Amino acid sequence: MKLSLPHYVLAASLAIAMGCSTQKQSLTANKNILPVDRKVDSVLSLMTLEEKVGQMNQYNGFWEVTGPVPINGQAATKYEHLKKGWVGSMLNVKGVKDVRALQKIAVEETRLHIPVLFGYDVIHGYKTVSPIPLAEAASWDLEAMRRSAEIAAAEAASSGLNWTFAPMVDVSRDARWGRVMEGAGEDPYLGSRIAEARVKGFQGNSFTEFNVAACVKHFAGYSFAESGRDYNTVDISRNTLYNVVLPPFKAAAEAGALTFMNSFNELDGIPATGNSFLQRDILKGEWGFKGFIVSDWGSMGEMIAHGYAKDLNHAAELAANAGSDMDMESSGYIGHLVNLVKEGKVSPDKIDDAVRRILRVKFELGLFDDPYKYCNEAREKATVGKKEFHDGVLDMAKKSIVLLKNDNSLLPLKKQGQKITVIGALADDKTSPLGNWRIGADDNTAVTVLEGMAQYNGNTITYVKGADVAIGSTVMGLNTHINNTDRSGFAEAVSAAKGADVVIMVLGEHGLQTGEGRSRSDLGLPGVQQELLEAIYKVNPNIVLVLQNGRPLVIPWAAEHIPAIVEGWHLGTESGHAIAQVLYGDYNPSGKLPMTFPRSVGQVPIYYNYKSTGRPGNGQPTESVFWSHYNDISNTPIYPFGHGLSYSKFDYSNLKVSSHNLNKGSKVTITVDVKNSSTVDGKEVVQFYLRDLFASVTRPVKELKGFELVEIKAGQTKNVSFTVDEKTIEFYSANNKWEAEPGDFKVYVGGSSYTKLEAGFNYTGK
Ligand code: NOJ
Repeated sequence: MKLSLPHYVLAASLAIAMGCSTQKQSLTANKNILPVDRKVDSVLSLMTLEEKVGQMNQYNGFWEVTGPVPINGQAATKYEHLKKGWVGSMLNVKGVKDVRALQKIAVEETRLHIPVLFGYDVIHGYKTVSPIPLAEAASWDLEAMRRSAEIAAAEAASSGLNWTFAPMVDVSRDARWGRVMEGAGEDPYLGSRIAEARVKGFQGNSFTEFNVAACVKHFAGYSFAESGRDYNTVDISRNTLYNVVLPPFKAAAEAGALTFMNSFNELDGIPATGNSFLQRDILKGEWGFKGFIVSDWGSMGEMIAHGYAKDLNHAAELAANAGSDMDMESSGYIGHLVNLVKEGKVSPDKIDDAVRRILRVKFELGLFDDPYKYCNEAREKATVGKKEFHDGVLDMAKKSIVLLKNDNSLLPLKKQGQKITVIGALADDKTSPLGNWRIGADDNTAVTVLEGMAQYNGNTITYVKGADVAIGSTVMGLNTHINNTDRSGFAEAVSAAKGADVVIMVLGEHGLQTGEGRSRSDLGLPGVQQELLEAIYKVNPNIVLVLQNGRPLVIPWAAEHIPAIVEGWHLGTESGHAIAQVLYGDYNPSGKLPMTFPRSVGQVPIYYNYKSTGRPGNGQPTESVFWSHYNDISNTPIYPFGHGLSYSKFDYSNLKVSSHNLNKGSKVTITVDVKNSSTVDGKEVVQFYLRDLFASVTRPVKELKGFELVEIKAGQTKNVSFTVDEKTIEFYSANNKWEAEPGDFKVYVGGSSYTKLEAGFNYTGK
């Protein structure tokens, strides 16, 4: 059947014909005057209970779409369900050909022709891969991150997808947790600004055929898994929930994100998928969220293992009543929800509410007007992998690099006449920089550090691997295949390092060693890499260590001995070009850490916005024992949140507050002079922190409240200002609400969370 009418008109006309709609006049008069909610209701009015529940069902891609139709097993059941209109969404199907084939079944073979949503984890790029989100966060460049999401959306949308399961906005304080690579790090304020930027990048302003719906995840608390072990129990206070965990979610909802995903963890003893407080009270209630919530993969069924649901039937009841609108791959809703409604255990209103939300998203995306909106082969061909997207991810990659250390200005490298030895398997790895979620990208498509450096031909470059990071070819099981034993390449590397002017060592984690299910208890350089580093250092200490990793690493020895350290993360397709341009000084780094680098795993979770405690002491191991400190190491991290150097040097001075009193409805302006005292033009992330000295609940020793990325020419001074009003000092108080409390505040401005430059004001509350 060819659809010549906008799809919702077709569905709505059917409603009218069946006498189900009260919208007859406006529907037939002019489709454009129908607000979305009325269109949604007109479709809803046509639906049977089974079809409604079908919309709440999401299946994983289940068969070779262009091959023969499945006749047996689970695939056959799913196929039958699709034909009946019992599938609201599918995930893990991509490419116009496959998406079109499935969409065709939904819109041409089902009774109501309702289009399907196609979701995928487009987390950091699709075919042209951007840096992992943690790396992007290090840029503190909101426009660059918006653009990066926009590129990912354009490629994904051109490949048939209309929904990405991103951004992940979980505030992460524990580097053992493998999924820190997927978020924006440890700070709720930075995380909130990034969440907004990424939602805007994915969704655009008006859902063109190059935009996809965003899915904000994981709601909520997932990153606080005990011991940093993925999927583990979460036990956090209301104070932490409101002041730390929820702000980025709220920011993303306010930025217009169409969907949310709940999470695998429990919160206060209740799994998030069955958690009505989170889903109904906070998200849909307090925040007025109008989109829908999808469960995480199988998380409905996992409520049985949690010990919260008796069986899948019970799990479906709990999830539906708690406001989880769509079931990702548990088959709990499709298997049980119709009966649960008939038995009166789930009210029809709750079903209608969920289905309205799902249909609403389909309308917002324009799928009822054109279900094949995202299915254009010519566009797919012309869009995916475009040159301008490579330029975009390269730009993002350069901005994501953090110069952690640069003693004696070892960097940038000279462009001529240097003898350089490059060591490390990762220097030559074309897959690892693609990171954990490389949805549309083929293995071996990233530019390596060696390839990047080869663009510069004035030096003599020798490459020796030294040691493998992983042994064997099973990348998904990489954790068990770390090279802990093979040192056979050490001797050749040591000999190549002797006599080099500079040794570049590219060490760290393989891209697939971070991400979901990849928690680590040891955060050092994996395998024999630390030994290799020390062996090379013995013969040539002139080392630039380029790290590639998806989480903060514990590198105390390197931080002490190695003169230059570059945090090169997993930077995506253009990784090697970005790193080489930084090494050679064609790009002046300006990245700042979005997450603290611990001195020891024993300090984890470690974060800059900790609480003072009643016995703060000096944070050092001392003779006197009764302080909140360790007996063996300092409390301080190796590199704090916000740290990052540049080839320029920035000096801060003249921190001023416009008034020492902040009154209700007024503002205080904080100003500071930032001087580039070097001979190199550069960019600096000027960071503004606040401390609330006493309050109805204890407050962190410092909280980021603003930042500005400023370009400052060599020798130039810029005056940077921040504004404080009551909103700035609000927090979730002992009264269980967001409010500003009278009292004294300190402000700090500088180039990292360790800034000591301070001033203060008092909030009078009057
Ligand atoms: C499980 C992950 O937790 C979630 O982030 C992802 O979107 C889904 N799987 C779908 O792949």
